[in-house]
Amino acid sequence: MNTVSFTLNGELTELEIYPDESLLDTLRERCGIISTKNGCSPQGQCGCCLVLVDGKPRTSCATATEKIAGRDIITLEGLSGDERRLLSEAFVAAAGLQCGFCIPGFALRTKALLEKNPTPSRPEIAKAIDAHLCRCTGYKKIIDAVELVSKARLGEITLQPGTDGHVGQSLARFQGLATVLGDRPYVDDLKADGMLHGAVVLSAYARAKVVKIDTSKAEALAGVVKVATYQDVPGERWYGLIYADWEGYIAEGEETRCVGDVIASVAAVDLQTARLAASLVEVEYEVLEPTLDPAESIKAGARQVNPKKPNRLSTTAFTRGDVDKALASSAHTVTGTWQTQRIEHLFLEPESSLAVPRGTGLHLYSQGQGVFDDRRQVASFLGLQPEEIFVELVANGGGFGGKEDMTVQPHAALLCFLTKRPVKLTLSREESVRVHPKRHPITMTFTVGCDADGRLTAVKARLLGDTGAYASVGGKVLERAAGHACGPYRVDNVGIEAIAAYTNNPPCGAMRGFGANQANFAIEGCLDLLAEKVGLDGWELRWRNAIDVGDTLSTGQILEKSVGLKKTLLAVKDGYLAAKADGRAVGISCGIKNSGLGNGAKEWGLCRLAVEKDGTISLYNGFTEMGQGLFTILTQCVVEVTNLDAAIFRPKVDSNFVLEVGQTTGSRGTLLGGRAAIEAAKMLKVDLDAGHSVADLVGRVYNGDILIDDTTAPGAVVDKIKTHTTYGFATQVCILDKEGRVDRFIAAHDVGRAINPSLCEGQIEGAIHMGLGFALTEELPCVDGMPVTNKLRELGVLRARDMPEIETFLIEDTEPEGPFGAKGLGEIGLVPTAGAVAGALAAFDGIRRMTLPMKNSPAARAMSVGKLKAAKD
Ligand code: FES
Ligand code: FES
Repeated sequence: MNTVSFTLNGELTELEIYPDESLLDTLRERCGIISTKNGCSPQGQCGCCLVLVDGKPRTSCATATEKIAGRDIITLEGLSGDERRLLSEAFVAAAGLQCGFCIPGFALRTKALLEKNPTPSRPEIAKAIDAHLCRCTGYKKIIDAVELVSKARLGEITLQPGTDGHVGQSLARFQGLATVLGDRPYVDDLKADGMLHGAVVLSAYARAKVVKIDTSKAEALAGVVKVATYQDVPGERWYGLIYADWEGYIAEGEETRCVGDVIASVAAVDLQTARLAASLVEVEYEVLEPTLDPAESIKAGARQVNPKKPNRLSTTAFTRGDVDKALASSAHTVTGTWQTQRIEHLFLEPESSLAVPRGTGLHLYSQGQGVFDDRRQVASFLGLQPEEIFVELVANGGGFGGKEDMTVQPHAALLCFLTKRPVKLTLSREESVRVHPKRHPITMTFTVGCDADGRLTAVKARLLGDTGAYASVGGKVLERAAGHACGPYRVDNVGIEAIAAYTNNPPCGAMRGFGANQANFAIEGCLDLLAEKVGLDGWELRWRNAIDVGDTLSTGQILEKSVGLKKTLLAVKDGYLAAKADGRAVGISCGIKNSGLGNGAKEWGLCRLAVEKDGTISLYNGFTEMGQGLFTILTQCVVEVTNLDAAIFRPKVDSNFVLEVGQTTGSRGTLLGGRAAIEAAKMLKVDLDAGHSVADLVGRVYNGDILIDDTTAPGAVVDKIKTHTTYGFATQVCILDKEGRVDRFIAAHDVGRAINPSLCEGQIEGAIHMGLGFALTEELPCVDGMPVTNKLRELGVLRARDMPEIETFLIEDTEPEGPFGAKGLGEIGLVPTAGAVAGALAAFDGIRRMTLPMKNSPAARAMSVGKLKAAKD
């Protein structure tokens, strides 16, 4: 250990540190600082760990603590009360945060920027924050926030207090102020008395026989308390959301199935020791040939990848009408194969779990998207009853579907169970990229026909998705891709088949859009090609085919209400035509996305309003807050019913009420959670109307239970098909500049009812940011099943400078089955995006691109991140 001294937030600090310790680790592990978050240490590429060193912004993860001896370090904790209030209030007022994990870094950058340049322009702000990544917001509202801080500092404006939170108002985000300042803890910010730190040993190969695991050197290291392997698992070693095909630890004599497989885990007195010990675990492998191609995987006689299931994990197939006959008699047909890529979620908060002994079991702090699924699986893994696991959601730093499956929860829990001490296990960015499921690469061959007027006659499609080593929810993703393969259009003759195939690539599962955006890229490409053949523009062809109330979806569901697609088309029409008249290259795309799982699933929304002694009301539900704003929306639902002050509600997810609902998936949190919250609030309102005050009602609990059980399974023979409860609809327009760069987006979305307009806009802006990455720059190729990179810059996520102007229209076509008419918005924002970009690029240079990302395009080359990828081609 070495001694170092520096000034931290005005106080002289002297510490013993490891020789190669980063400033980030020193601040977080030794100094009690939590505003500096670890998004990518030691890459220095996300900005979450920003500090000021002698007044200059610096990424602390890429700074050796020894190098800052004698220097002056400032974090958000060290700013004056006025500065902290101004920064936090401005970011909240601008809705400039979602999950918030990246925001403390942006906030500190704002201070540094405005001290140099008190009145920066928007491009100057975008340039200044270029060192930062945000996966949620699309940056627009972050830039708005910086402008607000600038104006407020100069006395030009006074930040307004928030609204009262009724439906339709932009209530400030729950816990927003503390989140901006980094004071609201994420899992990795938590500590417990006597806590150990965990680390994992991952498989070096996608497919190899584990011949021997030697833990002796790791166990001999000073500070190591436990090294766990398969032999230590007391319960069922296999788990999974739908199928238990995922092994928590690979045993000697077994084969690994992907490079995210865990061979061993370590608990030690500190993080550095745990990681060093993990590197000392010696694994003898017999390397075997992996299966990497899904098409090969499903061939007869192919080796079975996962011992629990055949390689063809799922097949979704349905037909309506006579597709071949309809195609043969169509005036025009197009056919082609579209290909999408594997994508990393890149939520900025890596996976983390803290397990603390509690009774005969433990208390699990999880950031998972379905903590009751975590509870069920962890209990089975440890051989305990679910009641012995108390689970608590710690609102996470981004999920986007990538935190549905278990990752570190079972390993933290096992180490805690074995050592009888609290254990926190957090993945490094490299480990995170290897472990959690990705967006499916899907190969899609479509043939689509239309009549002479451009009215669609038939869609025939075959989709093959690489679901990787484990099932996760891959079968459902391909099912959803099949159900959305005809887009939001009327088509009478349909023949769809979608297959999910196991390989030894990293597992693929849920990611925002859930197969709908892959399918949308193909069907929208077909519509553009048909429009050319018919001689119509893209808007007109879509208008002629747009579904409306009374029309039948490809799955056979007759739409009876809340179909705002045509309204979204009308909203963008003027902008679309004006841009074309201006000589711009323009693309247009429509989208549809289910809200709720549907397809025959029973779905519960459960809420408990518990009146507490301190005058607050706990609002329990089972769905996760991961930046989308669910906790704020639920609060607004109960405020609307009760007229109580929004500030008294405390949204929570934990085992105090074992609600067993979640996953937070399928754009259903608002739909189900909101309805349940309304039901519970109505019960509370009865007591309030009877003359009781909140203080009178302490100890009472009001239940809201909602069950949706009227949807129908794919292929079910029933009188009335209802594939999903409701759908969101959208139209997006992509406008390029004269050089072929993405200059502007117009996005019109049917949200049913905008419960919180700012949060709605934020979802759309953030989704377009993610959709542009999907379209142009993001990919995660693998070689022999190993991702070729875990570097944030190389993953292609867009920076602030890359974002176009976005004009948003919120269309409210009331959904009678939704809370106050609302429906889900979490995913649809990126469903049409790639199709709109592909159309605009084809209008620009005549090239119809059918493979994502469209790196070989002027739009991608113009992106600051796109250049890296393009340079490798
Ligand atoms: S954690 Fe330091 S830049 Fe990402
Ligand atoms: S708010 Fe920026 S990463 Fe979530």
